[in-house]
Amino acid sequence: MRNFTCVHDLGNLEQALKEAFEIKKDRFKYVELGKNKTLMMIFFNSSLRTRLSTQKAALNLGMNVMVLDINQGAWKLETERGVIMDGDKPEHLLEAIPVMGCYCDVIGVRSFARFENRDDDYNEVILNQFIKYSGRPVFSMEAATRHPLQSFADLITIEEYKKTARPKVVMTWAPHPRALPQAVPNSFAEWMNATDYDFVITHPEGYELDPKFVGNARVEYDQMKAFEGADFVYAKNWAAYSGDNYGKILNTDRSWTVGERQMAVTNNAYFMHCLPVRRNMIVTDDVIESPQSIVIPEAANREISATVVLKRILESL
Ligand code: CP
Repeated sequence: MRNFTCVHDLGNLEQALKEAFEIKKDRFKYVELGKNKTLMMIFFNSSLRTRLSTQKAALNLGMNVMVLDINQGAWKLETERGVIMDGDKPEHLLEAIPVMGCYCDVIGVRSFARFENRDDDYNEVILNQFIKYSGRPVFSMEAATRHPLQSFADLITIEEYKKTARPKVVMTWAPHPRALPQAVPNSFAEWMNATDYDFVITHPEGYELDPKFVGNARVEYDQMKAFEGADFVYAKNWAAYSGDNYGKILNTDRSWTVGERQMAVTNNAYFMHCLPVRRNMIVTDDVIESPQSIVIPEAANREISATVVLKRILESL
C-alpha cells in the first residue's frame, strides 16, 4: 500500500483487522521495519489524538518523526496556482511539497475542508497535491472529505465490543456551535458500508451527506426511531453539504443532543465519538461518563490503526 486516503486502500478489511489485533497484542513486533526511515507529519489544522497516536505508531515501528505545523513557524503557503504572490504568503505549496519530500520517507497530511469551494474540498486539492508532487507515500491524517485513520480505529473498536455478528450501528448528527466538515461522518459511513453491519444514519432535514458516502445506509430523520435497538451510537456534528447551504449551520436543536432519553431505547448501546467532543451539545455528561461510553478505548485504537497503516506503507518502500 503506497498511499492511504480511504477504506479501499486497505484492501481486504478482515486481513487489516487481523493485523490490527496482532499489533495490539505486540505493538513493537515490527520495530525493525522503520529503522532509518523518517515520517514527516504536516498539520494545516490542530490536533491532539492524531498527532500523538500517529507519532506513537511511528515509534512502535522504529521510525524517526518530524512534525511541521504549517500555521506555527512555517512560511505562510499559497495553494492556488496562477496567483500573483504579492500578498502575505511568501512560499507556494508547489515548491514546499517537493522540498518536504526531500527530508523524509513517508508523509502524513492533515488538511481540513475550508468551506470556500465545495469542488475544491471534495476534489481533495491539498492532499492530492502532496500525492502528486512529494515523491513520497502519503497518508491522510484527516483531509477535506475523509478521516480514514479515525474510521479504521472506530471499526477496530466496534469489532472489539460487538456482541452480535451483525450489530446495529447508528450514526447521529448532533448540534454544535461551529460549522464542522463532513470528513468524519463521510468516512465513518464509507467504512460502515464496507462491512455487513446494519448501518443507519439519522440527522435533521438539510443535513444529507454526499450520496457517494451514504451508499446503502438507511437514512432516518426521526432520531428516536433510528436509535431503537441500536448496539452502537456514533455521534458527530457536521455542517450542511447540499448546494448553496454547503458549510452552513442550519440547525442547533438541542433535542438532538445524545442523552439518556435516546440511549434508553437502544439495545444498551455503546456510545462512540471521535473526540474532541463538546459536552451537553453533542452528548450529555451522563452519557459520556456512563459505562457504555467507549470514547477512550476508541481513541486508544488510533495508535493501532496508525501502526497498521504505517506498517503497510513501510512494507511497500
Ligand atoms: N479524532 C481526532 O482526529 O482528534 P484530533 O483532531 O485531536 O486529532
